[in-house]
Amino acid sequence: RVEKRGYHEKVIDHYENPRNVGNMPKTDHDVGTGLVGAPACGDVMKLQIRVDDNGVISDVKFKTFGCGSAIASSSYMTERVKGMTLDQAGQVKNTEIAKELCLPPVKLHCSLLAEDAIKSAIKDYQTKREKRLAMAAAQA
Ligand code: FES
Ligand code: FES
Repeated sequence: RVEKRGYHEKVIDHYENPRNVGNMPKTDHDVGTGLVGAPACGDVMKLQIRVDDNGVISDVKFKTFGCGSAIASSSYMTERVKGMTLDQAGQVKNTEIAKELCLPPVKLHCSLLAEDAIKSAIKDYQTKREKRLAMAAAQA
């Protein structure tokens, strides 16, 4: 418990009660999956978004195999981007997460993992969508 004392309460809350932990079927056409790793420590984060017809994120889930700050960062990120458009979600910066969770400098890369993960999920969703549209156009 001693090592936790330096952390801000919000980190501990997101660490002890992470929001939106789980999985969504990767194959669903409206799900984008981001999977990223931190070279510095080997931690891995998976973040998934479900996007509605208006391009708004309706659901978010994550699984993080990593340190407490990475788990707290992904938990924070899932709450932050729910209800956002893809454009808005792509603009959430790791510096915001680090500030909100009061992460110390050595833990900055943990929040960067969350930024990378949402960007990667958005890209995956967009790639899938383009493929789907191209296929529909080819069939028309
Ligand atoms: Fe970095 Fe978990 S591997 S603290
Ligand atoms: Fe590497 Fe936190 S993600 S120490």
